[in-house]
Amino acid sequence: MSGQTWSSDLVAALPRRVLVAGGAGFIGSAFVRLLLANPGAPQVIVLDKLTYAGNLANLEPVAAHPGYRFVQGDICDRALVDRLGADVDCIVNFAAETHVDRSILDPDAFIRTDVYGTFALLESARLHQHQRFLQVSTDEVYGDVEAPLRSLESDPPRPRSPYSASKVGAEMQCLAYHATYGVPILITRGSNTYGPYQYPEKIVPLFVTQALDGLSMPVYGDGGAVRDYLYVEDHALGIASVLAWGVPGEAYNLGQGGEPINGLEVAHSVLRLTGRSRELIRHVADRPGHDRRYALDSTKARSLGWAPTMDFTRGMEQTVSWYSANRSWWEPIKSGEFLEFYRRNYRPLAGTATSI
Ligand code: NAD
Ligand code: DAU
Repeated sequence: MSGQTWSSDLVAALPRRVLVAGGAGFIGSAFVRLLLANPGAPQVIVLDKLTYAGNLANLEPVAAHPGYRFVQGDICDRALVDRLGADVDCIVNFAAETHVDRSILDPDAFIRTDVYGTFALLESARLHQHQRFLQVSTDEVYGDVEAPLRSLESDPPRPRSPYSASKVGAEMQCLAYHATYGVPILITRGSNTYGPYQYPEKIVPLFVTQALDGLSMPVYGDGGAVRDYLYVEDHALGIASVLAWGVPGEAYNLGQGGEPINGLEVAHSVLRLTGRSRELIRHVADRPGHDRRYALDSTKARSLGWAPTMDFTRGMEQTVSWYSANRSWWEPIKSGEFLEFYRRNYRPLAGTATSI
């Protein structure tokens, strides 16, 4: 990891007691690790259900920090979130079902957690008159964006998957709570994030761990769909910057901002860094409703002083080297529940002629 440090101005501008919902997941745990590495950091309570995607090992580096407490629980549990809300000044909501392919197979949990769960947290923020409520959202709310356009915060939502529709549902509640009750909400719309500690279902950690094991990398369709890849520490810093300096009621795009990168380019980067041959690339049928392109204009977040620090080449080097050195983190995950999902998702896409 880059071991990014945050400025003392930024840390001083943050609320003093923060409830981090979903803090045992990929981006939430990076946020907590980076936040608590700073002198004078706020106190943090992590609330996490520990679904298949949540992992206490992600929080091991801060487990003994005096300002950290972990509570296992569901954001849909109104009594629990009302109770925890009394001990903090703000909520940052990372908790969500997050994988588009799983939302296509089983939308139910997405609606419950992403929509109802956000409502439950907003109610707690309203009850306790919090200083801030930051909803971690996604560039997927804009849907497919034609080149050369880049989405602006003022663009209308056009979600196309059950996942992105659930994230729009959450955002709409945040905006309603701001307009109706004056809850000081903030929304970040981050782009595709990659880096250490990411559950190996998303393209980067899936391809990296497959390649390290000499297994195939399933590329959807022609591999031409593009994403704006943002290194996880840059995403966490963007969220902290919006939490500190964002204007309540506003949304902020957080994207890397360079030329978007397609699936085949991700595969080739992984092959180069792992020294594997291109025979590992397997084209499978396309994801239903696959958004062909996301691209963000992040000028508004940059005007708060935020800027990504890691380009894709260096970020991929760091990521591959982390997964190579941390097999003990991901090998146990790529069994049981993961394999069941993998077969269920990819077998129908691979067809009869191709093995996956
Ligand atoms: P993740 O899947 O790695 O982690 C999600 C976390 O939420 C897990 O720890 C899980 O246990 C927890 N969780 C799920 N349901 C819960 C519930 N009902 N109650 C309490 N905890 C629950 O996700 P991530 O990739 O870290 O994403 C975090 C947030 O950022 C999500 O809101 C996601 O929509 C958003 N986001 C992700 C990306 C990305 O590329 N990964 C990009 C933009 C925005
Ligand atoms: O853009 C932000 C979003 O990024 C987040 O809101 C989501 O939580 C996160 O999952 C991610 O969504 P994507 O669907 O864009 O990410 P994923 O890694 O699943 O896919 C990235 C691209 O890679 C997409 O074009 C599909 C392609 N892909 C993905 C997988 C898993 C493949 O070609 N093969 C695969 O096996």
